Amino acid sequence: MARSVPILASKFVTLLLLSSFATILVTGDEDHEFVRSLDRKLLGLKKEKLSHFKLYWHDILTGQNPSAVQVVPPPSNTSRTAFGLVRMIDNPLTLGPEMSSKLVGRAQGFYAQASQQDIGLLMAMNFAFIEGKYNGSTITVLGKNAVFSTVREMPVIGGSGLFRFARGYVQARTHKLDMATGDATVEYNVYVFHY
Ligand SMILES: *[C@@H]1O[C@H](CO)[C@@H](O)[C@H](O)[C@H]1NC(C)=O
Ligand SMILES: *[C@@H]1O[C@H](CO)[C@@H](O)[C@H](O)[C@H]1NC(C)=O
Repeated sequence: MARSVPILASKFVTLLLLSSFATILVTGDEDHEFVRSLDRKLLGLKKEKLSHFKLYWHDILTGQNPSAVQVVPPPSNTSRTAFGLVRMIDNPLTLGPEMSSKLVGRAQGFYAQASQQDIGLLMAMNFAFIEGKYNGSTITVLGKNAVFSTVREMPVIGGSGLFRFARGYVQARTHKLDMATGDATVEYNVYVFHY
């Protein structure tokens, strides 16, 4: 019985040695660079350009196929501003103001009523394009939308595909608002720096 203790101990030491050896093999830190500077040409980035897109954004609350759906109701219907309301959107983006106009993408995300004093939405949405070479590329808009102001400016905070490294802003102007249904068509002018 007494002899098995040193044998066990030596097995344990062997195991320890093996496992620390394995650790060295696995980490091999010298081969893993945490950060390095990169020539932008290696990512295919040439000259930064500024583009202007003009689109119409359709917020359809009613009818057979609403594109904006309430997912969080405001805490009480006594709230004058509906503070707290959240609507998920998959809104068509068209070239012209009519719904029958060419579909160039969809605005996907949500907006939330984030102001207790007036109507001021937090918009968080991706413009997911399907048109031409922009098909599959996205622009991300995050900002405050005071919907009753004539022009609302919101930042473009990034993008994907042809809009990698994007930054810029949008200006939103209400084109048409049906006060009875809440359905709205909004003109969006997007000014974006990208490669
Ligand atoms: C909303 O407010 C109205 C008027 O005060 C009241 O009659 C109604 O019951 C309220 N609805 C809900 C869902 O609280
Ligand atoms: C956009 O790309 C998708 C996926 O690659 C493709 O299925 C679709 O037909 C394209 N749409 C247009 C309008 O080119």
